[in-house]
Amino acid sequence: MQNNATPAIQTQNLTRRFGELTAVDKLNLSVPRGVIFGFLGPNGAGKSTTIHMVIGLLPPTAGTAYVSGFDILTAPLEVKRRIGVVPENLNLYERLTAAEQIELVGRLYGLDRAEIKRRIPPLLEMLELDDAGNKMIIDYSQGMRKKTAMACALIHAPEILFLDEPFESIDPISTRAIKATLREMVEHRGTTIFFSTHVMELAERFCDQVGIINKGQLAGVGSIPDLRERASLPPDAPLEDVFLRTVGAEVADQGLLDWLTGQAA
Ligand SMILES: Nc1ncnc2c1ncn2[C@@H]1O[C@H](COP(=O)(O)OP(=O)(O)OP(=O)(O)O)[C@@H](O)[C@H]1O
Ligand SMILES: [Mg+2]
Repeated sequence: MQNNATPAIQTQNLTRRFGELTAVDKLNLSVPRGVIFGFLGPNGAGKSTTIHMVIGLLPPTAGTAYVSGFDILTAPLEVKRRIGVVPENLNLYERLTAAEQIELVGRLYGLDRAEIKRRIPPLLEMLELDDAGNKMIIDYSQGMRKKTAMACALIHAPEILFLDEPFESIDPISTRAIKATLREMVEHRGTTIFFSTHVMELAERFCDQVGIINKGQLAGVGSIPDLRERASLPPDAPLEDVFLRTVGAEVADQGLLDWLTGQAA
């Protein structure tokens, strides 16, 4: 079922409708193993909906996806076993501490208690969460919550990580430490990282490949130099320009905001 040529993630006409709206429209995307893949797109483009379907939180309306060769529809447990997830809405138990929450998740993945106890302190240290001590999650800042979710996604050393806006609200020191850890996981263990972001600089520096989704459809996929070339932009064009060109974005007429900007219409 699975060998090194099997893509880490493959979607097949993956589609999700909400009433009249097609949030994800026949998405065909293939992400090889051992890469950091950035999933970019404007607000409401369908990034989180795609992630929710692939990780088994939301049933597709049509199509399917394969994670490490396992069909999300027929082998959801095989999929869940192999993945770690930082979702858009962090579902944490407010009355636990970070360490307790991570332990709970570790147990759900079938790790034994001694191994969990060994893994938690360095994980908390890397995330600069060790100071959180015995505080309950209800008293955490947004960044601390995100880091707790990150620790939960990493405790079982997953084969594939799905991160929805992972660095949003995380400070630059921790961002650097997390990025270094993720890069080592990719280099040494062949982990695949699939993450969504709006931060172009992050995508540019951190991703091996990117996919751009717009209105539920894949507008471009490949390495950043490939996408730049396809958008007929020069080699030094920033990713922001590639992104805007690929999604066909136009700058709104600021004249109507004259009451705010002071610019005459
Ligand atoms: N549960 C839902 N019910 C109805 N519509 C939904 C639901 N979830 C998402 N949508 C719609 O689907 C579209 C895609 O939403 P999605 O959350 O996937 O976007 P996104 O690319 O993650 O955006 P953002 O960058 O803002 O996080 C949007 O138009 C959104 O309003
Ligand atoms: Mg989203």
